Amino acid sequence: MDKLIIEGGVRLQGTIDVNGSKNAALPILFATILLDGTARLENVPDLRDIHTTLHLLDVLGCACACAAHRAEIRPGQLHPEAPYDLVKTMRASVLCLGPLLARIGQARVALPGGCAIGARPVDQHLKGLELMGAHFELAEGYIMGSCRRLHGAHVTFDMPTVGGTENLLMAAVLAEGETLLENAAREPEVVDLARFLRACGAQIEGEGSSSIRIRGVSSLHGTTYSIMPDRIEAGTFLAAAGITGGDLLLPNCPYEELEAVILKLTGMGMEISRTPEGVRARCDRPLRGIDVKTQPYPGFPTDMQAQIMALMCLAEGASMVEESIFENRFMHVQELARMGADVRISGHTAMVRGVDHLIGAPVMASDLRASASLVLAGLAARGTTQVQRIYHLDRGYERIEDKLGAVGARIRRAPENA
Ligand code: UD1
Repeated sequence: MDKLIIEGGVRLQGTIDVNGSKNAALPILFATILLDGTARLENVPDLRDIHTTLHLLDVLGCACACAAHRAEIRPGQLHPEAPYDLVKTMRASVLCLGPLLARIGQARVALPGGCAIGARPVDQHLKGLELMGAHFELAEGYIMGSCRRLHGAHVTFDMPTVGGTENLLMAAVLAEGETLLENAAREPEVVDLARFLRACGAQIEGEGSSSIRIRGVSSLHGTTYSIMPDRIEAGTFLAAAGITGGDLLLPNCPYEELEAVILKLTGMGMEISRTPEGVRARCDRPLRGIDVKTQPYPGFPTDMQAQIMALMCLAEGASMVEESIFENRFMHVQELARMGADVRISGHTAMVRGVDHLIGAPVMASDLRASASLVLAGLAARGTTQVQRIYHLDRGYERIEDKLGAVGARIRRAPENA
């Protein structure tokens, strides 16, 4: 196991490239199960979750090859079982449910376990697939699904669920007849999945709105598709410019998809502008406190909550964070407190009082975005921060130490017991 060692206090300056989006790549990889042909994907991030997914696709009967941010996947004789050993390391594995049912009428997917950021049930995925004609049983820790050919249905989600919308979208493209998904998630990653499926011959309208209409087709063909840039990785780098008083240029930053984040960062005193070369983020004045409530897209993303809290810890005045998507998503707070932050939690709300400085300390990463928040705090802290258990970070950020190091950060990876 590795840790990151960060000497704080360096102003970051330079250009950072943003990778392809993890959360767009994962459903698109699972969607390749639906194809009669080869998917050639570009801009695929080199991350642990991506390798886990390719391994799972291989177990399910797809031939996969991946190198240099490209992946080639060709479904062969498909098998219905997603084993616990793979599913337990990555909740998104449940996204094979819809494609397997649509393609072979059977799926045995280990129930994803509880997770550090809350219970995260999959009832909405199952309810929707049942409306399309699937039957489910739970046995020995597995969701066992079966169906004849799925049929179109009118599905209204209880809440806008990203994974639920993606699973149903993938199931509906090969179903018989028309499906209408209402109260659907509007996240850009859902839009990217719909675009990929359309490039393969699917008939989809309304992605990006809360009402998505899908007309089932009998088969989908292969295609070449480039994954959208990662808005959360980009947002984390914008925050890095803010917390270090730096000046960063992000050539392939998805600006519109980050508007809610950019609005808050500029509200805190950052200058963020679009230039012909990319998005430029600067901060040459003290940060000011601000209030943030996480919401489904286009609201402020829960996946940026921990990172913006690191900035609030050093901002003038008080800030309030309300987490309305996941319970237990304040695991970073006690670690930030070890660095001198003043944060109090009451239920779903955290009150942050800005302090003059943070002090480097050994801290422990608890989930992916919490880890990013600790790295940001470490970049700004006085002295040395050691972020332990960075395997969480490696699930979502490719070579973060190299990218931040290239713009001036004093950051290195070392074995945890070093
Ligand atoms: C996805 C993202 C994750 C992000 C989250 C919210 C991926 C791989 N992960 O996760 O990074 O933080 O969206 O933007 O894309 N819910 C239910 N029943 C269900 C499904 C969801 O109650 O069947 C609830 C969840 O507990 C949560 C809310 O709905 O409170 C939203 O969850 P959802 O949008 O489904 O998140 P994920 O798709 O798991």
